[in-house]
Amino acid sequence: MASEDIVLQVQNVTKSFPGVKALSDINLTLRRGSVHVLCGENGAGKSTFVKILNGVHEPDEGSIFVNGEEVKIHHPLEARRLGIGMIFQELDYVPEFTVEQTLFLGEEPTNRFGGIDWREIRRRTVELLDAEGLPYSPDTKLKDLSISDIQMIEILKAVSADVQVLLLDEPTSAITKTETSRLFEKIEQLKSNGVAFIYISHKMDEIFQIADEITVLRDGKHIGSHPVSELTVDAVISMMVGRPLDNVFPDKPEREVGEPVFEISGLTAGKRFRDVSLSVNKGEIVGLSGLVGAGRTELVRAAFGLDPYDSGVVRIRGEVVPPDDVVGAMNRGMAMLSEDRKRYGLVLARNVMENASILVLKKYFERGWNRKKKEISDVDAMFTRLNVKTPSLLTIAGTLSGGNQQKVVLAKWLLKDQEVIVLDEPTRGIDVGAKFEIYRIIFSLAASGKAVLVISSELPELIGICDRIYVMAKGRLTGELSVDDFDQETIMKFATQGSVHE
Ligand SMILES: Nc1ncnc2c1ncn2[C@@H]1O[C@H](COP(=O)(O)OP(=O)(O)OP(=O)(O)O)[C@@H](O)[C@H]1O
Ligand SMILES: [Mg+2]
Repeated sequence: MASEDIVLQVQNVTKSFPGVKALSDINLTLRRGSVHVLCGENGAGKSTFVKILNGVHEPDEGSIFVNGEEVKIHHPLEARRLGIGMIFQELDYVPEFTVEQTLFLGEEPTNRFGGIDWREIRRRTVELLDAEGLPYSPDTKLKDLSISDIQMIEILKAVSADVQVLLLDEPTSAITKTETSRLFEKIEQLKSNGVAFIYISHKMDEIFQIADEITVLRDGKHIGSHPVSELTVDAVISMMVGRPLDNVFPDKPEREVGEPVFEISGLTAGKRFRDVSLSVNKGEIVGLSGLVGAGRTELVRAAFGLDPYDSGVVRIRGEVVPPDDVVGAMNRGMAMLSEDRKRYGLVLARNVMENASILVLKKYFERGWNRKKKEISDVDAMFTRLNVKTPSLLTIAGTLSGGNQQKVVLAKWLLKDQEVIVLDEPTRGIDVGAKFEIYRIIFSLAASGKAVLVISSELPELIGICDRIYVMAKGRLTGELSVDDFDQETIMKFATQGSVHE
């Protein structure tokens, strides 16, 4: 490889946090105009690695070379000056800011009086949006845009500087298939201009579509780097988990499916969803399929009392669940793992044990006694079952890797031991090995008689674990399939009913 082909070289980078060696001795070579995918289980060190390149963290040891010259990157602004931009795993934006404010934040052009040149900002924003064919005005607030649109703005912001390297940390975890294609087109276009990418993802199909090279990390160690042409999905997975993974799904347990436990009847909320009725029986795993935006999350959020609805009724074992009352829903036996775990699931500044036992604290106080030992052993057992990777039970939740934070939220609900369990995208951002574990847990919940409702954008996942699948499109229920009729095409047909594209 000619050295001028190499834009970025990382040598022997090591990084420790209190209680964990996040990275040890990592090497990576990034070629100009290529996509280098970084794979590995939750907590393997992927985000830490790209954060070092972006100046968020400093390495303890090791060297970084940009265009053959050794550099020290102490701050994201320094990274930017070196032509390194990053799109974070959790997009960090100001919802009240407009598109143009976001694009030029911190780099506002000034006029000859030293003030911010808003006319210039407007002119350049319009030019950028036009060039990309993005149909919204520079005044649009970010809170009115979709995640994918915001991400595109962040990419444009990164690219508007003289970017050579773009770091993308799970950029497709919260966007639709169509939006993913739009992102991939943008990547291809930038590649042909010589931009190089480090791309983190847990989605194997995507990885093989976009990668030129793949590097696998496991427990902070460099397992290998290969051109994609030399690899298969199975090979990557076994590099990731350290052993071959024979099955994607565990065996479905034999169960006695009982009477209806969770019933939604005629639920309606403006344009978000209309007249939706469904039920989940004791011991049953029911899927809720549909395209992103079909109203699935809105529906279950309303049923759980997080949002109001106009009409209809929700029942658990025949008892009415009061609207707009989360505590009421919980007291009647409902649990919900929400799709946006950062906002609704975790107290990031608290330790992981507090987060996990927050709903069941009462249980650990008895006749004035704080049964801390019991709390510790219960949480510890649940973490072991979910394979949560944390240095200790006292680790601050916000410092866990993305996937492990999700497992803590799941642990919280499992400890609460509710009768009705709604899981909204339970495996988003979860690595392949841990997915298998989560399916096993869903199966054991059903086997113990819980009623489980699962929302997922991954069709094979629903087909693999459910007994029945409902499909929604544009806020309405459009289909219901029982296990013998499961078929991707039929589900897609219901999911696109009444819509023009996707
Ligand atoms: N700021 C921090 N403070 C303490 N520990 C941290 C911090 N950031 C990361 N870690 C730890 O470093 C390890 C690697 O985390 P990292 O976020 O890099 O994993 P990841 O590969 O991106 O995982 P995921 O797929 O779940 O996003 C984890 O054990 C994590 O708990
Ligand atoms: Mg990560």
